[in-house]
Amino acid sequence: MYLQGIDSIVVENRSRQYSEQRVRAGVLEQGTVDLLTEMGVGERMKTEGLVHHGIELRFGGRGHRIDFQDLTGGKGITIYAQHEVLKDLNNARVATGGQVFFEVRSVSVHDFDGSSPKIRYQKDGSAYELTCDFIAGCDGFHGICRPSIPAGVLTEYEREYPFGWLGILADAPPSSEELIYTHHDRGFALLSMRTPHISRLYLQCKPDENIDLWSDEKIWQELQIRLASDGWKLTEGQVLQKGITGMRSFVVEPMQYGRLLLAGDSAHIVPPTGAKGLNLAVADVQILARALKHFYDSGSRDLLDSYSEVCLRRVWKVQRFSWWMTSMLHRFPDQNPFDHRRQLAELDYVTSSRAAAKTLAENYVGLPME
Ligand code: PHB
Repeated sequence: MYLQGIDSIVVENRSRQYSEQRVRAGVLEQGTVDLLTEMGVGERMKTEGLVHHGIELRFGGRGHRIDFQDLTGGKGITIYAQHEVLKDLNNARVATGGQVFFEVRSVSVHDFDGSSPKIRYQKDGSAYELTCDFIAGCDGFHGICRPSIPAGVLTEYEREYPFGWLGILADAPPSSEELIYTHHDRGFALLSMRTPHISRLYLQCKPDENIDLWSDEKIWQELQIRLASDGWKLTEGQVLQKGITGMRSFVVEPMQYGRLLLAGDSAHIVPPTGAKGLNLAVADVQILARALKHFYDSGSRDLLDSYSEVCLRRVWKVQRFSWWMTSMLHRFPDQNPFDHRRQLAELDYVTSSRAAAKTLAENYVGLPME
């Protein structure tokens, strides 16, 4: 918005420190990388980010590479932590005199069905009200924006999965240069990373898993079993952080009401298997920024009116991909031997048919923007 000469204020209930430290996503699509670069906040990402040109699918104890470079005409992904992106955005914002209000309380949104929406909030014990032209509801799945839209306007589409992910951050050099997605009889496992020295690893677990029952030793033991492959070794290290991630697919339609426009997790959630959550949020705000610029340049509401429709076309394709990756790789508690064989056949097909591998690759590196 700043680059387009449009004033904006960010109202954030967390502290700056929290947003810059909490470990979240880590895989950036090419389009996300290109956007951050164009915006002038890609310097550190360029030097510290790890560019990958493929992933490995491991099943039956054997690895199979999906070569993005070859299958997508040279595209790849970049490993760069979401909280590092936030540091870069916060720094750029502060350097250009932009306003970000951290640690606000009691935020509420009003009058967005008229022409001057309002945001009320409290900070340091005082109450404030902002009047604006538009509100971008970027406040996540548990945020206040979506529930502030009158009843009956939104339709929700949802699917919960009967498992979660137990994730660790470990002080260990990644045991593979590229990500490894593993199908195992005991459940899914994923090897990822944040830097050349820090690994990020996940295990499929129960949706209501009690993290206290998982000692570091037990976690490494289970990772060793699920990721095992001949001639390959998983390097262990000190566990720096651990947590459980729930898995759900969720979409609301439409993503807007009057002058309140939802973006990112406030409008949709994907299970993490396709690494799409952050990238989908970036796609939303890119479409929103274009619509706002068009409005201020020309006075036309056309692009704003079609915001939801344009976003949702991408959202549903990404939902499909994330659901598909999740279904192919996890063990479902109610699955029978037929389902198990079908999953293995799917993995065999994806790793042996160029057409199928291409489908995975073009979705993983990111579908083109409309
Ligand atoms: C991660 O590194 O946190 C990560 C990578 C790939 C995924 C999900 C999470 O699909």
